[in-house]
Amino acid sequence: MKKLHYAAMIACMTLTGASAFAQPLTGASDQDVMTVLKDSFAPVGEVSLDRLEQSPEQKACSDMAATGQAIPKDVMEKLLKQAMASVKPPTDKQFLGDWKVGEKIAQSGVGLQFSDKPGVVSGGNCYACHQMTKSEIAFGNIGPSLLHYGKNRGNSVQMLEYTWNKIYNSHAYTACSNMPRFGSAGILTEQQIKDVMALLFDPASPVNNE
Ligand code: HEC
Repeated sequence: MKKLHYAAMIACMTLTGASAFAQPLTGASDQDVMTVLKDSFAPVGEVSLDRLEQSPEQKACSDMAATGQAIPKDVMEKLLKQAMASVKPPTDKQFLGDWKVGEKIAQSGVGLQFSDKPGVVSGGNCYACHQMTKSEIAFGNIGPSLLHYGKNRGNSVQMLEYTWNKIYNSHAYTACSNMPRFGSAGILTEQQIKDVMALLFDPASPVNNE
């Protein structure tokens, strides 16, 4: 019983920000914070500690958030260029796959988490941030609604290329975007990106047909 009380107390402190242990961070360098972070995590399954290493782009975005200042124009241009350079177009130049598979990928948030079986096929979790169809009412709104995406924008080569690039590495157009870099970060395969592209563009898909 006593043990349980301790467990509950520790859980409460963790949830409330562990106020008993909180120290002012004045004087702590970025390196001090990283040391604490690295000591606090253990690698589990597919999640290794290299996730704590920031890419130069993530670092620039964090620095901007910390100082509240805009990224200098030259740095911003470099970041956008780097992100665009990471995008690989479809090898057979076909942008569209199967929207029915795409819908399953958009619905699935499985993959790359410590609780996932290593090697499991990842989903895109698009609905976590976007409205896409009328029938799915459980969606997040961090990103804009993509309902009627293909119907509204058409399927010109330029629009297909823009959307492919955006999904492959969202930072190619918006530095510090909240959207995952599905291709560059190795979350989705080329075929999976084609399938979510079909979900967005196929006139028969529920994105355009509801
Ligand atoms: C964690 C949130 C998040 C997830 C998950 C996410 N997105 Fe996004 N997405 C955003 C945000 C935020 C924007 C707008 C800001 C920006 O441009 O980056 C956006 C923008 C877009 C755009 C551009 C829209 C426009 O008006 O031009 C497309 C297309 C898109 N997302 C497709 C997808 C697809 C497909 C998936 C799933 C494979 C997905 N997104 C998953 C957050 C997300």
